Amino acid sequence: MKIEKCKTASIILAGFLVISCNVKKDSLDNGSSLKNAYEKDFYIGTALDINQINENDSEVNNLIATQFNAVTAENIMKCEVIHPKWDTYEFDLTDKFVAYGKKNKMFIVGHTLLWHSQLAPFVRKIKSKDSLQLFMTNHINTIAGRYKGKIDGWDVVNEALNEDGTYRKSIFLDLLGEDFLITAFKLAEKAAPDTELYYNDFNIEQPKKRAGAITLLTKIKNSGARIDGVGIQGHWSLDGPPVKEIEESIIAFSKLGLKVMITELDVSVLPNPNKMVGANVEQNFAEDPKMNPYTKGLPDSVQVKLAQRYEDLFKIFIKHKDKISRITFWGVNDGQSWLNNWPIRNRTNHPLLFDRNNKPKLVYEKVLGLKK
Ligand code: XIL
Repeated sequence: MKIEKCKTASIILAGFLVISCNVKKDSLDNGSSLKNAYEKDFYIGTALDINQINENDSEVNNLIATQFNAVTAENIMKCEVIHPKWDTYEFDLTDKFVAYGKKNKMFIVGHTLLWHSQLAPFVRKIKSKDSLQLFMTNHINTIAGRYKGKIDGWDVVNEALNEDGTYRKSIFLDLLGEDFLITAFKLAEKAAPDTELYYNDFNIEQPKKRAGAITLLTKIKNSGARIDGVGIQGHWSLDGPPVKEIEESIIAFSKLGLKVMITELDVSVLPNPNKMVGANVEQNFAEDPKMNPYTKGLPDSVQVKLAQRYEDLFKIFIKHKDKISRITFWGVNDGQSWLNNWPIRNRTNHPLLFDRNNKPKLVYEKVLGLKK
């Protein structure tokens, strides 16, 4: 009798293990969806690359449409792509991106009107205050104006702060002074009156930079310019930053009367050169096999850590859903992630919820499980 019971238990256990291993494989077939699970809390967004905007792969296309209800352009709205020469604007892809978002009834985010990185070369050559002011006016009027009433939110200024909370050195700061931010928000408001306007940056969850961001955001508000929200980029890793700092920042930014968003979420699982934190796209390190340990897939032990980290993050997001309007992942699947090439080129990172074959990972189940 005892032996019989034991046998039955092992059969049940074995069955359970088989089922739990298959959960990952089958979970999308049962119609599960991040956007539906979090529908009452906040938008669940993703960043789209050119292939995705062109709908080149029907599997990815289907994944985007079923899992996400907000989209950000990963690169095509950056100055070097959309405004490569003084009088040249490239709108083919951006028109497609906006049409894609509309067709799928998604919240559409424009990224970004003003940023010191990925600027067109002609802008870097500008020497006078007047010319730069004219560039900025033309750039914002033309781009934000074209998508007036079509884009739901603009990252008006990206990354204007240093890690210690002071203003980052850039051509805009050098020639136009600190008020370039206020000017940018005023121009965007005029060109796209019904669009939400955001300031977006990395590391602003960390105390020093957070303090700088609060000063900056208050200054923009006090100038009379409209600002609706702040984007904490969220390029994080398995070990940091602490969720406590993230939570404190969500509360602090919300107290300013701003919507809070996590705009570029990913969690790197790879070794970090020089304990670097943040997402300065201009920082790069040499290739080194030791820094690329998971080329053949992510070991289960690390899958579990990744799932735990995302669970901890999403628990905080759910707790503060009244303050948060959107959580956007920086990419659809691990293969697309910029973290395969930054801050070291040619690595195999695994920072998102879907793997290179568009299959949901353990972390997907865990993030979804928080809503069950
Ligand atoms: C990244 C893109 O994902 C990469 O494809 C590109 O090569 C560099 O920029 N902060 C931002 C994003 O605001 O625009 C950056 O996107 C990542 C860091």
